[in-house]
Amino acid sequence: MYHLHVEEASEYITKQLNVQPTVGLILGSGLGVLADEIQNPTTILYRDIPHFPESTVSGHKGQLVIGELEGRQVIAMQGRFHYYEGYNMQQVTFPVRVMKELGIDTLFVTNAAGGINESFNPGNLMIITDHINNMGDSPLIGPNDDERGPRFPDMSEAYDRDLIEHARQSAERLELSVQEGVYVGNTGPAYETGAEVRMLRVLGGDAVGMSTVPEVITASHAGIRVLGISCISNMAAGILDQPLTHDEVIETTSQVREDFLGFVKELLKSLPA
Ligand code: 6GU
Repeated sequence: MYHLHVEEASEYITKQLNVQPTVGLILGSGLGVLADEIQNPTTILYRDIPHFPESTVSGHKGQLVIGELEGRQVIAMQGRFHYYEGYNMQQVTFPVRVMKELGIDTLFVTNAAGGINESFNPGNLMIITDHINNMGDSPLIGPNDDERGPRFPDMSEAYDRDLIEHARQSAERLELSVQEGVYVGNTGPAYETGAEVRMLRVLGGDAVGMSTVPEVITASHAGIRVLGISCISNMAAGILDQPLTHDEVIETTSQVREDFLGFVKELLKSLPA
């Protein structure tokens, strides 16, 4: 069933393309503007793609933008599916399976996240070096399709070492100071309590958000090399003394936008084969 759905969605998209994308971009809250820079774009609304879920959060658009960016053929998701919206893990990660079917071998996963590491500041970009799945669920639960990946996939290098090094060097070339750290995936939709943030810090988390982990598990399972970038939109609870709002998350993200856009473009321009 799932298998067929992936193929039907992929076929619907392929029919509208002249060239095959090789790099997937999942654009998080407030970061969808990157897709506006894609040349000769083909835009496909999620709602028009067979079996695709539809996104519901403000600040997320709900479309694929496919075309050329910095000389690469890319497929960008402007808006993603979140577990907290009520989608199951298979639905959340469906687009990753479809992008794999379309031929991508590299995936840039981006998000807005709260800073746990006290040396971080809102507006920082963070290269994700590893993650903690704190969602209590996995997109790989259920029968395994051995054609798509192993039953018990290794996750020791879910975030590709070469891409992390490439990201460091790209940041250096831009003289952009970029953090590195561990991303904790929580379900949301409530932000964390102060006690939870302290717990996550003890556990080794540097940033926390409500996405990314399911997509990265699926991409890793599918043999896609992954680069993760968090935009630290705010500090998590208990670090600052004011309450957290979604508007604040969107607001800070718009300030880091220029750094983010420049960073991803540089990453693409000099992407190792
Ligand atoms: Cl503080 N927590 C979570 N779970 N997600 C976030 C966030 C915080 N800030 C942005 N996204």
